[in-house]
Amino acid sequence: MARIEPNKVTKVAIVGTGLIGAGWAALFLANGLKVHAIDPAPDAEVRLHDTIRSMWGSLRELGRTSQPTPPLDALSFSSTPGAELASAQLVQESAPEKIEIKQQLLSDIEAWVSAETIIASSTSALLIGDIQAKARNPGRCLAAHPFNPPHILPLVEVSGGPKTDDEVLDWAMSFYEWLGKTPVRLSRQIEGHIAGRLGAAMWREAVSLVDQGVATVADIDAAVRNGPGPRWATTGCHMVYHLGGGDGGMANYLAHLGESQQRRWDSLGTPTLTAELCEKLTEGVTKDLGERSIASLVDERDRKLVQIMQSRG
Ligand SMILES: NC(=O)c1ccc[n+]([C@@H]2O[C@H](COP(=O)([O-])OP(=O)(O)OC[C@H]3O[C@@H](n4cnc5c(N)ncnc54)[C@H](O)[C@@H]3O)[C@@H](O)[C@H]2O)c1
Repeated sequence: MARIEPNKVTKVAIVGTGLIGAGWAALFLANGLKVHAIDPAPDAEVRLHDTIRSMWGSLRELGRTSQPTPPLDALSFSSTPGAELASAQLVQESAPEKIEIKQQLLSDIEAWVSAETIIASSTSALLIGDIQAKARNPGRCLAAHPFNPPHILPLVEVSGGPKTDDEVLDWAMSFYEWLGKTPVRLSRQIEGHIAGRLGAAMWREAVSLVDQGVATVADIDAAVRNGPGPRWATTGCHMVYHLGGGDGGMANYLAHLGESQQRRWDSLGTPTLTAELCEKLTEGVTKDLGERSIASLVDERDRKLVQIMQSRG
């Protein structure tokens, strides 16, 4: 049987229904797909329904669905992989970030899916090459890493391991695009993909600045929110310097300020997460929050993210 075309997918499965799995589920449902969800946690089904309901408003505001409430009748649930997987055209695995769990799950999933089913892992920083190492049919396995929160932010980083078929990566790129995402394809697998590595690089320096006593956690976050953050949202991090070079663009910037950039790179910090530094970071980030819960901070973030996405058109 031939594999279904990416824009004709009707049924998907999600494995792991935590933060990321729930976001995928909401997005798949908003796109009219039937979803089978798998998670062994005792309260997982109720939690998933609640989370999808709480995400639905953002999906409506983004124009991703016109349905007033999530179509939960299109969502089925089981605690372990089973016969429901036979009709899934894509499995999106978002289970805990542990290689043993992901390898075992892949083996369990492969026992039920059809030969054509694509299996994508949301892994943040494991290598898909390691996850697929013991698979029966590793060619159909890939990493498709969403950027949190997946129901709002468009980025999906697509990469294959040494055994992934190129046509599977082509299929995945088309599928996520059809889903309304913005997939970016890596030429090779790497821990943390692109965005996670860039985030890690920037956070490393932010932590180093705290460690050296240069500024407080709050002031460093304020600097990002009021300067580079909004600018990156419009240009990316390379284009910033092309525009920073005046009429001569990037070439002028590099000729004029490349040396000072190199000096800054050479002075960047490499902090170690000692117990003392961890305490400083935790205290710093919670200092002005009072009684505010994480849930209310996430709500506020998501509201603002929706506004940013709407303003980008
Ligand atoms: N949190 C993020 O910002 C983020 C972003 C992108 C990708 N990811 C990746 O997504 C994956 C999930 O991360 P998360 O933050 O949603 O974690 P999470 O802890 O919120 O959710 C994990 C879920 O997997 C379930 N689970 C445990 N064992 C399982 C099993 N054997 N089968 C099926 N489900 C099982 C848990 O009950 C839980 O609901 C990880 O690989 C992570 O690297 C995370």
